[in-house]
Order: sequence, then C-alpha cells, then structure tokens
Amino acid sequence: MTVHVLFVCLGNICRSPMAEAVFRHLVEEAGLGEQIVVDSAGTSDYHIGERAHSGTRTVLRANGIEYDGRARQITPADFERFDYILAMDNDNLADLRRMAPPQTRAVIARFLDFADGVSSREVPDPYYYGQAEFEYVYRLVRRGAEALLAHIRAERGL
Ligand code: 4NP
Repeated sequence: MTVHVLFVCLGNICRSPMAEAVFRHLVEEAGLGEQIVVDSAGTSDYHIGERAHSGTRTVLRANGIEYDGRARQITPADFERFDYILAMDNDNLADLRRMAPPQTRAVIARFLDFADGVSSREVPDPYYYGQAEFEYVYRLVRRGAEALLAHIRAERGL
C-alpha cells in the first residue's frame, strides 16, 4: 500500500517545497520511493504556478537536493488522496482544519509535531528574510523530515 504525504504552507514557494524535496530525498535514500508518494501545496492562491523561492532553491542545491516543482493551492481532493497532511505553522494548521471535509481520514498535524528533540513546533516563514533564515529553516526541515520518516516507517511497518 502506498502512503501519501502532503506538506502545506501559505505560499507553497518557501517552506513546503523545501520539506517536500528534503523528505523525498530521504525516502529515496531509504529505498522507499515506490511506497511513499510526496507532494506539497499552499493554503493560499498567491503564487500558483511559480517556481520555489530562490532562497529555497539555493539552500536545496547547496545540500545536493533537486527540486523542480511549481506552486499549487490545496484542493478538497487532497484531503481524500493524502494520508498525512502536514502544516508548517499554527496558521496553516488552523486553515487546514477549517478546509478539511468532515469525512477526511487524513492525519492533519504540524510537521514538527513528530520531531521530539526540536524545541519549536512551527517552521517560521522565511519569506521576508535573507538567505541565513532559509538555512535555519533548512536545518529545522531536515530534522523534521528525519523524524517524520521514522514515525511513518514505524506506523506503516515500512
Ligand atoms: P511559504 O512562504 O508559505 O513558506 O511559501 C510565503 C510565501 C509567500 C507569502 C508568504 C509566505 N506571501 O505573503 O506572498
């Protein structure tokens, strides 16, 4: 059975594409590319069709991770298709809970809720800041992605 994982932020150009790329990288490293499908989306329509922010692309490239995705907005169908829908911050989580159809079976949580050793439960928005903030966000995302993958592997027996 395939597990579907969706990362969600506001614009789908900074944080959730970074999480998608890092998580997919770890999934492929673990040889689980056939079992775990990864995607990302934004709660807003602000940046539909755009490439990831240059800060995200730069930090991914520096860490040897490819990313070619374009921004999209979350749709009602995503709540049917995805098993885990992971918010970057509390606002994203509140928006997702509001948008979710009552019958959804998806786990809707904050991405960092699975990262025990990380003090923050939110991935801060780097949009208004410089490259150093994108690098800080990358380190958080990396730890979050490792913890999430361990959680999903344990929960799904992968
Ligand atoms: P993201 O960052 O939610 O991590 O993609 C943002 C991107 C765009 C905006 C805000 C945050 N914006 O207001 O346009």
